[in-house]
Amino acid sequence: MIAFRGGLGAGKTAMARGLARGLGIRDLVTSPTYTLVNEYDGGRLPFFHVDAYRLSSAGEFEFMDARSYLYGGGLCAIEWSERVRDALPADAVIVDIEPLSDGSRKIRIEGALEEIVT
Ligand SMILES: Nc1ncnc2c1ncn2[C@@H]1O[C@H](COP(=O)(O)OP(=O)(O)O)[C@@H](O)[C@H]1O
Ligand SMILES: [Mg+2]
Repeated sequence: MIAFRGGLGAGKTAMARGLARGLGIRDLVTSPTYTLVNEYDGGRLPFFHVDAYRLSSAGEFEFMDARSYLYGGGLCAIEWSERVRDALPADAVIVDIEPLSDGSRKIRIEGALEEIVT
């Protein structure tokens, strides 16, 4: 599971699109801000794209059936993951995106990447 961190416009959805493309998903990936979660089944693995922006706690995330996304046999990517930090698995890969003033981005990746690529 990939946990994105970074404010509005950081590039979280753009990176989620890249993940979807890597899975071979051809659908247009849009921000799940209002739906909370979008599921794409057309790729090598199911892709669960969650946006926690409107959630106020880990408990709320669990209430919306987080387990079925986190452990649903696919890849789960969460935008605004800092809002549901306590509901994330210990092996979450954290991707911090920080836009810099020159238009570039500083990206810090932390966690067990080998879990993702096998
Ligand atoms: N790495 C990048 N390089 C250039 N532009 C980017 C990059 N990542 C995102 N953008 C642009 O920044 C804007 C916000 O990106 P988005 O992924 O929607 O951010 P977030 O989901 O974090 O709010 C979009 O217009 C997007 O095209
Ligand atoms: Mg977004």
